Amino acid sequence: MKLSQRITHLTGGGSDGWDVFYRARRMISEGHVITELTIGEHDIRTHPTILDAMDLSARQGNTGYAVVPGSDLLRDTVAARIQARTGQKTSRNNVLITPGGQSALFAAHVAVCDPGDVGLYLDPYYATYPGTIRGAGAKARAIQTTAEDAFQPRAQQIDAASDGAVSLLINSPNNPTGVVYSRETLNGIAGVCRDRDLWLISDEVYDTQVWEGEHISPRTLPGMAERTLVVGSMSKSHAMTGSRCGWVVGPEEVITHLINLATHTTYGVPGFIQDAASFALNAGHDLEEEIAAPFRRRRAQAIAILATQNTISLVPAQGAMYLMLDIRAAGLSGEEFANALLDTHAIAVMPGESFGKAAAGHVRVAMTIDDDRFAAALRTICEFATGLAESHAAE
Ligand SMILES: Cc1ncc(COP(=O)(O)O)c(C=O)c1O
Repeated sequence: MKLSQRITHLTGGGSDGWDVFYRARRMISEGHVITELTIGEHDIRTHPTILDAMDLSARQGNTGYAVVPGSDLLRDTVAARIQARTGQKTSRNNVLITPGGQSALFAAHVAVCDPGDVGLYLDPYYATYPGTIRGAGAKARAIQTTAEDAFQPRAQQIDAASDGAVSLLINSPNNPTGVVYSRETLNGIAGVCRDRDLWLISDEVYDTQVWEGEHISPRTLPGMAERTLVVGSMSKSHAMTGSRCGWVVGPEEVITHLINLATHTTYGVPGFIQDAASFALNAGHDLEEEIAAPFRRRRAQAIAILATQNTISLVPAQGAMYLMLDIRAAGLSGEEFANALLDTHAIAVMPGESFGKAAAGHVRVAMTIDDDRFAAALRTICEFATGLAESHAAE
């Protein structure tokens, strides 16, 4: 039987640098001890106080169908949070609660892309981006950023790629690069969106993990609240990846349509999860900082370790739970480096190539194991790269 192109063309085909990831998984399942630095998931679990709120809510009976747009409490809480961060008036009517940020990314694209429209995204990119745009029926068009420009996208490049486009997807703090977009970058992006009449889909799921500089939501910028859809999530800020709770924030008209979409797709998010999320968001900054603190510490460790060598250079690690290491001086591609590192030292990292073309010659290291093992792994990576660079130079 024929299947739809929408489903069969969702992924681009080919493994594109993911072989090493699957190989590491296989080795772990066969009993090998692998230092696993591939996945963007905390090494802690959801906080006990959040679990208590979830348990209480479920026991009080919130286990039936929940209201589709999200509970008033959670929508109000998210609206207040976004208003405090952007200075833009935001009410529950601007908020749809979704099963995680990924579902929000998909819904946002369905809201603004017709079949055949072009949806823009920036390379390097979070793995699901092109498939999400294609899944919404649009053509996914990548715009390359460069390591030399610290992976900050430039307005001119976006403008040059904008013919036929209806949307632009950005992500700051960024996965995989760890870069936080500067005000100058965001002003440039906003200018192109206004000139070219583009929707801006702003993935801000790492907005509580900012180590340097400031997180600026483009919803703040002049003329942008009416054309920006902000995607947020409880996954990274509150170590609630398995709870599947996120949101889209945007103009009321868009949210009204997205509520229809949710009615016909997800039918909402479980009430006890929403109550746990409301509790977590209202628990305040200290809890968020407690969850972000291990990454802040490990980033500082990494900077100190990397300062002792000069083979690997670090892409400015301003936010999120990853480090992007430029290993080009070692004379291998990111994929070759990651495979050799796995074989030689049983350390698994993601090749830059698995996030598109722009991060070739890099590897992404997730800071998601305990401090001592993390520091030891990073020292090994540095020694390994230096050894490779020396033998490369001797060739
Ligand atoms: C940049 C980015 N956006 C969205 C997501 C999806 O997060 P969620 O767990 O909320 O679906 C992730 C998850 O890793 C991510 O890295």
